[in-house]
Amino acid sequence: MTRAAVLRALDGPLAVEELILNPLGPTQVRVRLAAAGVCHSDLSLADGTLRQQFPAVLGHEGAGTVVEVGADVTTVAVGDHVVLNWSPPCRSCWFCEAGEPYLCVRADDARAVPFARDSSGADVFAGLGTGAFATETVVGAHACIPVPADLPLEEAALLGCAVLTGVGAVTNAARVRPGQSVVVIGLGGVGLAALQGARIAGAGTIVAVDPAPAKEDLARRMGATHFLPPSEKLAKEIRALTGGRGADHAIECVGRAETIRAAWSATRRGGTATVVGLGSSKDQLSLSALEVAYFARTLVGCMYGSTDPAVDVPILLDHYRAGRLDLSALVTDHVGLGDLDEAFVRVREGRGARTLVRF
Ligand code: APR
Ligand code: ZN
Repeated sequence: MTRAAVLRALDGPLAVEELILNPLGPTQVRVRLAAAGVCHSDLSLADGTLRQQFPAVLGHEGAGTVVEVGADVTTVAVGDHVVLNWSPPCRSCWFCEAGEPYLCVRADDARAVPFARDSSGADVFAGLGTGAFATETVVGAHACIPVPADLPLEEAALLGCAVLTGVGAVTNAARVRPGQSVVVIGLGGVGLAALQGARIAGAGTIVAVDPAPAKEDLARRMGATHFLPPSEKLAKEIRALTGGRGADHAIECVGRAETIRAAWSATRRGGTATVVGLGSSKDQLSLSALEVAYFARTLVGCMYGSTDPAVDVPILLDHYRAGRLDLSALVTDHVGLGDLDEAFVRVREGRGARTLVRF
């Protein structure tokens, strides 16, 4: 039995229901959630921007304790603290073997299989295969990243999406070097983590861009040296802060053609725009045939921060322990499972950083 926030249809309300979890398969694990962050991708799954089968339990940024393991599970044991991984690599497909586990072709498999049944016996699906807006969930063992027991689970949850994605985009995809200039566009949990990634990478000028003035304080706490609202003049303002050239790197953390375009225009000749935001397939980006070669810029798409959670979570934990990564600063609100609608409104309006559901 699990208590979960169930979304019955696109744009529907979230209603807390009791569900019956499906029996564990031999390679599955049952996790009792301690905390789950609300990410923009949850909104995108709820409004149809990203594909989702319904009824669904969303939530893919969770951490908790293993309470049951299938017969063949060797990687985690009952009592272990784990962070959920919403794109678990199979370790055997072409991409995994090529060292790109964030592109694993089997990472979506768990999304197509129901993880629970409702009181009428109907199948219920886990958003991004994790279903973390529930007191308990069932996932594959490879979707569980063990973390040390002394790491608060509320902070650990953030590693599962915002931090792996945002910090990874800067360190693994963009590969920002010390002294370089970085622009981060969009300051939700992902963008704020990207700012911290820029600070960790030793970036020089770090420009944070967001329409919400209230984000400035948060951005500066994460390492931003400048804060600008989006505008027609943004590229010009950034050139003024970067020796007249434009930034070495821009990290787009919104997921719209307009902001991808802004990231591209913010970079110098030869610079790199890294796109983290997951937007709509209908939102078309336009670049002129002249500018691509002429400015010799690079446009990089980045899934899940181009990370391998098995490698990158321990690195992030080192940063955390050394005081370089501030996880608690990323959390600005807490809600109970019954108040997720309120949290979704906050994400839609671009307020705060992360809202955490506490169980
Ligand atoms: N320019 C800059 N920032 C913008 C703009 C704009 N034109 N429009 C919106 N924003 C800001 C919002 O004010 C908000 O602070 O982008 C931020 C987005 O934050 P969240 O909605 O909290 O999104 P987050 O969870 O951080 O995810 C960002 O990464 O993983 C993907 O699907 C996810 O596309 C989403 C992106
Ligand atoms: Zn997410």
